[in-house]
Amino acid sequence: MSKKILLSGLKPTGAPHLGNYFGAIKQWIDMSSEYESYVFIADYHALNFIQNSEEMKKNIINVVLDYLALGLDPKKVTLFKQSDISEHTELAWIFETLTTMPYLMRAHAYKDAQAKNKEIAVGTFNYPVLMAADILLYSPDIVPVGADQQQHVEIARDIAQKFNNTFGNGEQILKLPEHRIIKEVAVVPGTDGRKMSKSYGNTIPLFAEYEEIKKCVMSIVTDSGGDVPTNVYAIHKLLVPAIRTKQELAELYEANKGKYKILKEALIEDLEKFIAPMREKRHELEKDIPGALAILKSGGEKAKVIASKKMQEVREKIGVNVY
Ligand code: ADP
Ligand code: TRP
Repeated sequence: MSKKILLSGLKPTGAPHLGNYFGAIKQWIDMSSEYESYVFIADYHALNFIQNSEEMKKNIINVVLDYLALGLDPKKVTLFKQSDISEHTELAWIFETLTTMPYLMRAHAYKDAQAKNKEIAVGTFNYPVLMAADILLYSPDIVPVGADQQQHVEIARDIAQKFNNTFGNGEQILKLPEHRIIKEVAVVPGTDGRKMSKSYGNTIPLFAEYEEIKKCVMSIVTDSGGDVPTNVYAIHKLLVPAIRTKQELAELYEANKGKYKILKEALIEDLEKFIAPMREKRHELEKDIPGALAILKSGGEKAKVIASKKMQEVREKIGVNVY
């Protein structure tokens, strides 16, 4: 029996953090033996935020190094970048003809963007449509993401359904994907207790050096009074069972009720234990950037075969294949 398919990705918009790892990337790694896996770099999505060629290049290289250092194994996972597969933007156009503006106006990401900036780019507005194309080209069974992306996966399902209804003649041309969100890490909190996010400046970067870890942990906002500093504990809990067992963590907090400084120091040491091996692996990988890029390129060649086959089927169904 053939394996089920997993697909996911992230935008190359800056250093990845614990929220990206526990909310999404760890799932990709954990499931990569069981699923036929596709993980990509959403560089055309990032173009909505990064419009500087040097920065774009640097970020793409950084994400490949990040993926490899975190343990995505190119023997098990097809790693590629969106811009290598022109079918993503081609299929997005076809979907745009099936998707109404009022429907897209209901998307959270659009509402947030609009609240901040009235002059929204068409690319920002259409973001979920391109994401639907990213997903549906590879017919994945599951799309593991953090909670903030759930609505986007639902939009992809709706678009697939609309396409099938319009062009399928009763056949399911595009497979409806399921999002995969793990409840405990659906929203990893940052140093201020809000969702950890690059845009809030409340992250703990995944490859932080010791001094940076220290600075981040010291900046964790603590309520005065209670036995347990909630925001410290919420981050500490992520390191179970990798660094401490559940019981060891419970004992640490029991023995140090109200001692926020000691608990923060313990978190610094635990984070260092967790991060150091990945950080060292990343430093190693930085010595061979052409090697890392070769992995990305060959992943793109593999992904292209699948995407172009699906695109052929789509062109056939919409009636533009006249030769
Ligand atoms: P950011 O909000 O920092 O810009 P991205 O939008 O690049 O993060 O997210 C990449 C992936 O990581 C997505 O699947 C997203 O759902 C997940 N993710 C990001 N932040 C968190 C978080 N704090 N908790 C859980 N998952 C997260
Ligand atoms: N929108 C996702 C994010 O901000 C990135 C992304 C783009 C994605 N296309 C995707 C994730 C397809 C999963 C599947 O993190």
